[in-house]
Amino acid sequence: MRLERAASIDDLRLMARRRIPRFAFDLVDGGAENERNMRRNSQAFQEVELTPRYMVDVSAIDTRARLFGKTYDLPFGMAPIGMLNAFWPNADLTLARLCAKENVPYVASSAASTTLEELAEAADGNGWFQLYVSSDDTVTEGLIARAEAAGYDTMVVTADVPAAGKRDRDIRNQLAVPFRITPEVLLHLALNPRWSLETLRHGKPNVANYADLLQSATSYADVQKTLITPGFTWDALERLRDRWKGKLLVKGILHPQDAVSCADMGCDGIVVSNHGGRQVAFGPPTIEALPAIADAVTGKIGIAIDSGVRRGADVLRAKALGADFVFAGRAFAYGVGAGGTPGGQRAMDILKLELVRALGQLGAASFEGVGSSALAR
Ligand SMILES: Cc1cc2nc3c(=O)[nH]c(=O)nc-3n(C[C@H](O)[C@H](O)[C@H](O)COP(=O)(O)O)c2cc1C
Repeated sequence: MRLERAASIDDLRLMARRRIPRFAFDLVDGGAENERNMRRNSQAFQEVELTPRYMVDVSAIDTRARLFGKTYDLPFGMAPIGMLNAFWPNADLTLARLCAKENVPYVASSAASTTLEELAEAADGNGWFQLYVSSDDTVTEGLIARAEAAGYDTMVVTADVPAAGKRDRDIRNQLAVPFRITPEVLLHLALNPRWSLETLRHGKPNVANYADLLQSATSYADVQKTLITPGFTWDALERLRDRWKGKLLVKGILHPQDAVSCADMGCDGIVVSNHGGRQVAFGPPTIEALPAIADAVTGKIGIAIDSGVRRGADVLRAKALGADFVFAGRAFAYGVGAGGTPGGQRAMDILKLELVRALGQLGAASFEGVGSSALAR
């Protein structure tokens, strides 16, 4: 199927599924345990109804959003995704460049398959840096110093990884560290020649920012020790707040009291997120967690949301319920998986088109003008 025939993000997902070996597709497409939380994320967005309003001049629609003193052309950006080059070769740089071109934020993951320096350059001023706090303070400090030197002005600290998510698909696919070529893997490589050739051309994806540290990793446990911090506490966040002079957001907030604590500590923003349903199966969808959080901290701190965004209208649903900005992870990944750079662009264009059409139908000439009055009652 050609990219122009993809009408939705779901179409791009299906196209990506046909081109990518199952173990690599599942790495991105999957969620925690039975994936209940992941499914609920996008279902719950669909359940939020907005009431169309007419006889309003919407001949010029303004999709810009202002955030932390900067104006972005669209009210959504790219969420941080680790090891994305395993999904499609060169996906990191493709998406960083796309975000620069479209003037939206690109959040570079600590666990990206491209170094944070290369991503800062590709994102051309639109890069934010996402930090996984390591159990080893020198690793954390090393990343922060590098992010500073690379010119990032915004850091997103991910809070929702006190333990690794248990992802049943990855267990069934027997993903191992270091990567092992089993007969089953060979079969999937043969069935997906384009992915296999491109991966050969670009080299085996790794976790670039930790390449030296992880070179000697012989198990997932080794990787997790570097990336996962059961000991990350509010005190440690306070130290990060003192350390980082730029804008600081905390990602993975689901409880209003945690949002209030972030605001009290002087953080600039939060991302209401459940990691795309990859950490637990039992949690609430983010769009359902949002209203209580917005009640608690609106006006005190910037509120972004992710997890489950698949439609342009989802961005407006989030805005109507109190978010200032939205991030999407898999939506962009599916685009690149479906068709490399043009596929990433197609994902961006689909979300943009849906957003503009939805604004027109809501009788809203600007994204910034959408508020709770848009909600159906
Ligand atoms: C494959 C994959 C890897 C991810 N890696 C990271 C990461 O390195 N750091 C992080 O903070 N969040 C990570 N996330 C979570 C995303 O930033 C984001 O919260 C999530 O994808 C949003 O849900 P969505 O995919 O439904 O849009 C990852 C998500 C996926 C799907």
